[in-house]
Amino acid sequence: MKVRKAVIPAAGFGTRFLPATKAQPKEMLNVVDKPLIQYSVEEAVGSGIEHIAVIISRGKSALMDHFDQSPELEYFLEKKNKLDLLEQVKEISGLAEFCYIRQQQALGLGHAILMAESFIAGEPFAVLLPDDIFDCPVPCTKQLIDVYQEYASSVVVLGRVDKEGTKKYGIIKPKQMTETTFQVLDLVEKPGPEKAFSDLGLIGRYVFTPEIFDAIRRTPPDHRGEVQITDAIKLLLEEQSVYGHLFEGTRYDCGDKLTFLQASLALALKREEFQRPLKDFLKTLE
Ligand code: UTP
Repeated sequence: MKVRKAVIPAAGFGTRFLPATKAQPKEMLNVVDKPLIQYSVEEAVGSGIEHIAVIISRGKSALMDHFDQSPELEYFLEKKNKLDLLEQVKEISGLAEFCYIRQQQALGLGHAILMAESFIAGEPFAVLLPDDIFDCPVPCTKQLIDVYQEYASSVVVLGRVDKEGTKKYGIIKPKQMTETTFQVLDLVEKPGPEKAFSDLGLIGRYVFTPEIFDAIRRTPPDHRGEVQITDAIKLLLEEQSVYGHLFEGTRYDCGDKLTFLQASLALALKREEFQRPLKDFLKTLE
């Protein structure tokens, strides 16, 4: 079955970015020249996704405005003959068909995904966490969809993590199938280096069969009262195979202040118009 739908959870508080996120969504923080969430939306669209549900909460209406039409702005740009900008602005609202679903309380990523159950309506679907930017020759979600098509099972994206990473991510017990595909035999959320099965961590992109919703419903909240998607995947494993794909490309973690700055710099340096002046500027700081 074709993967046509995606869920982008964006209802969290973004506490690691405070005070920047006190009155604006983390997902609207600017990376080079567009908000974080637009990178995920473009990746989804580039992967063949047509319908996107964004999970939001109070204070997140800027996300809806960003992907909506903007008649006054478009009229203004047209009158000023700024046609390049007009084109860019119009393109954003035409990227996909958007639907916004409220998560009334931030009860965890698993709970946020569960909010999209009726939107998904029994189809396989992708999940993209907007605080990861993937810069890949083939869009990362497309890479996962290709594995999904082969195995007809849920697929999680994998990245190699270091010791610190085992404290930050869910880690899998792998059975290697191909050079880049692994069957997930077991997984543990943030095990730490001693208890980690491997160095393969779950890093923010998924394709799920609809059975994940039942698994989420059966998942008890963790010690912080949050329903974690890793725990739900562990339950899903009891009835279905799950695969992991070691993606090809670069991932920029934009989830905290330091990595966000690093990602912004790295992505800006990839842009021809910024490369030279930015490098010259950085030299002056040394
Ligand atoms: P994070 O773990 O980064 O949480 O969630 P957060 O609240 O945004 O940020 P910090 O940790 O407090 O700084 C990953 C993604 O899942 C969404 C977040 O909006 C983010 O895009 N999320 C998380 C929800 O939609 N609902 C939740 O209950 C939790």
